[in-house]
Amino acid sequence: MRVDRFLSNLPRFNRKQVRLLLVERRIKVDGQVVSDPHFEVREFSCVECDGEVLQAGKPPRYFMLHKPQGCVSATRDPKHPTVLDLIHEPDRDDLHIAGRLDFNTTGLMLITNDGSWSRRLTQPQTKLPKLYYVETEQPITPDYARTFAQGLYFAYEDLTTQPAELVVLASRCARLSIVEGRYHQVKRMFGHFDNKVLRLHREQMGPLVLDSRLKPGEYRPLTAAEIALI
Ligand code: URA
Repeated sequence: MRVDRFLSNLPRFNRKQVRLLLVERRIKVDGQVVSDPHFEVREFSCVECDGEVLQAGKPPRYFMLHKPQGCVSATRDPKHPTVLDLIHEPDRDDLHIAGRLDFNTTGLMLITNDGSWSRRLTQPQTKLPKLYYVETEQPITPDYARTFAQGLYFAYEDLTTQPAELVVLASRCARLSIVEGRYHQVKRMFGHFDNKVLRLHREQMGPLVLDSRLKPGEYRPLTAAEIALI
């Protein structure tokens, strides 16, 4: 958010006062004097006025989790364990999930307190490929790849899915890359052929790959290089 908007959203300053504070160089963001009203204040920036802290800076945090089966991609659930129950970190309530998985789907989940980072990862315009390993009840025939590449009509949303890439690995297993994250999308795509998905595992989200050293239920912080990829 622009610094002038950030300041005028506070009950104590009106717009005129904000303009003056900036001109008089009384505002600091992360220790630097800021006079440009367009300067971007992040949710992690420390903002001060005459040395008084208006917003305490806090570090952005990013984790990758190997989601196990049988847990909900939510921050709270009355019945089942959630993926956030697996994260043992301070200020866990600040964290949120970037891109959900179904109850029994396993694999890569990204968890952060950085809203703009997770939006870049999940917003449809980014068209970030998500790679899934899929096992099905029935054989996967060559017409699946053609149909998925053309896009499938989802009546409920009244839309046609973006082209998806299917690589058949064996009679009943494949890798599927999709650029959206519609509700139960992979299961519904295979459901078009009356083929039930028995196992679904997310291996990759864009350039971020599930660390093979993580067992189901384990997590680790992202490296600086991984964070910068998004
Ligand atoms: N598609 C699904 O059907 N389920 C998931 O968990 C993810 C993608």
